[in-house]
Amino acid sequence: MDLTIRPRRLRGNPSIREMVRETRISSSSLIYPLFVREGSGIVEEIPSMQGQYRYSPDMLGKILEPLLQAGVNRVLLFGIPNVKDACGSGAWAADGVVQQALHFIKQNYPEIYCITDVCMCEYTSHGHCGILQDHWVDNDKTLEVLSKTALSHVQAGADMVAPSDMMDGRVAAIRGILDQNGYCQTPILSYAVKYSSSFYGPFREAAGSAPSFGDRKSYQMDYHNVREGLKEAALDAAEGADLLMVKPALSYLDVIHRVKTQTNLPLAAYSVSGEYAMIKSAANAGLIDEASIVCETAASIYRAGADILITYFAKELAGYINEGRIG
Ligand code: PBG
Repeated sequence: MDLTIRPRRLRGNPSIREMVRETRISSSSLIYPLFVREGSGIVEEIPSMQGQYRYSPDMLGKILEPLLQAGVNRVLLFGIPNVKDACGSGAWAADGVVQQALHFIKQNYPEIYCITDVCMCEYTSHGHCGILQDHWVDNDKTLEVLSKTALSHVQAGADMVAPSDMMDGRVAAIRGILDQNGYCQTPILSYAVKYSSSFYGPFREAAGSAPSFGDRKSYQMDYHNVREGLKEAALDAAEGADLLMVKPALSYLDVIHRVKTQTNLPLAAYSVSGEYAMIKSAANAGLIDEASIVCETAASIYRAGADILITYFAKELAGYINEGRIG
């Protein structure tokens, strides 16, 4: 057969396949989302997310040690307070659950880079991501509490803040308060392109943050849209975001790709709780091989354009990278 070009020449053995890889994945780009629950002595499995746990601040070593051992030293902290109220005041309490976790981590595991999720939904009695005016989340009032929360996280030791509320103008508001207080070096990772998604279901059970009425469609994005995502990304960049995020990941690979071509900021993708739970339950049912699917889906997210991956499988992925199974 007279074939000059034979693509299979580059697939003949593992050595050449690894050499010509177009997508490289490193543990330094992985972030592990971590649920911290107020109290002490708590390590409890999350029923909707098998293999994931809520930890009280004093028990965080139980997960941080194995993460560090695997080579993951970046976490995204979510707080679960004992008491919630209408304005979510636990979010910015100096002794709030995230603030306590930050003190614990900075004291005991200084090598861990701490990013905090800044949002009101885990702290409000109604479960919405901001301050309510009747049944409407009031944008500009919410900016005040988000800013206070971000400042309090940074004062407690956060290395980076990540607002996930989808209010208009939050990046500018947070940048402003951090700068006024001398934290002009603290970066903001904006959940810039966050869709109103059913893939968050298991998380809301984990964090007890489901809205008590209605949904989040008046602030999170409509999944039919991508140009609106580019608008959100451009706005957040102009307001001073240092990194951008697209969330969820797997059903939004086109969005990741489009945002990547538009921006020159580092781009994170968040593979959310529903993506995790779907893989776990299909693997448990014996329908798919978990490790292979975790590698293939992670590679697809990077291939689409993500520079950074936030995933509940961070520890496992770091292990697969170390084994040379992916990377
Ligand atoms: C807070 C927040 C949510 C998630 C991250 N930050 C829930 C939501 O918006 O309802 C979801 C993460 C996941 O599903 O893994 N607003």
